[in-house]
Amino acid sequence: MSPLRVAVVGANGRVGRLLLNQLKNSSSFATPLAIVRKQDQVDYFKNEAGVDASLTDIETSSASEIAAAIKGYDAVVFSAGAGYDGVERIFTVDLDGCIKVVEACENAGVKRFVVVSALRAEDRDFWWNLEGLREYYIAKRSADREIRSSKLDYTILQPGTLESNEGTGLFQPLDKLDEKASGLYSINNEDVASFITQTLLHPDVTVGKTIPLVNGNESIESFIQSL
Ligand SMILES: NC(=O)c1ccc[n+]([C@@H]2O[C@H](COP(=O)([O-])OP(=O)(O)OC[C@H]3O[C@@H](n4cnc5c(N)ncnc54)[C@H](OP(=O)(O)O)[C@@H]3O)[C@@H](O)[C@H]2O)c1
Repeated sequence: MSPLRVAVVGANGRVGRLLLNQLKNSSSFATPLAIVRKQDQVDYFKNEAGVDASLTDIETSSASEIAAAIKGYDAVVFSAGAGYDGVERIFTVDLDGCIKVVEACENAGVKRFVVVSALRAEDRDFWWNLEGLREYYIAKRSADREIRSSKLDYTILQPGTLESNEGTGLFQPLDKLDEKASGLYSINNEDVASFITQTLLHPDVTVGKTIPLVNGNESIESFIQSL
């Protein structure tokens, strides 16, 4: 199989940077594309990180402009987010930004799409009363639903709370997830990045799936084969 060409939206984020590093260092992947929103980030990725970069702000760009940036790639990973930058940007980045990237993939003929969503985003009863997080989960849940009704070969990854960068390589088997404890579940950033990499390499067991990601005691290989 020829090396996969992957574009990463949200490349400058904690998960995004770790992911680009993994893709760059694996012979299964061609030089990845970092999609970022500032010129100094383009300069960093091209000159210091040694990957390709595109200055494409998903908030202000049209779906056609995003399509032009990702055309020719085999897969797009969406790991962008407004963070704690106010409710308006949650809607223009996490929700509409994500939907525009989905439309761009459809327009550019990029079939494979992997998104970093959030654990139990579909469960309104879980998040409705979580202080300061209601709008965030509305955006994640709604974006996930758009993705499921798209024509893309999608995988929706739903990590628990993101913790320190260092990976454990260990995941919680799905049949051992206790829904009542969801608010307590976490996963390290590097493990999310590693799982995205494995998702891209194993479309056979990940396409069309929504996969909760939390640290546990099962190896990544056996976790992915159990899906
Ligand atoms: N934090 C948690 O506990 C948690 C839990 C579950 C899921 N998640 C989700 O996991 C994903 C990755 O998280 P993370 O911690 O790696 O996020 P992060 O560090 O906040 O990175 C998000 C990236 O998105 C980029 N971005 C924001 N607006 C953009 C725009 N208009 N155009 C292009 N890029 C834009 C940011 O760019 P700048 O660098 O320029 O700001 C940043 O690099 C996010 O979707 C997040 O919602 C987070």
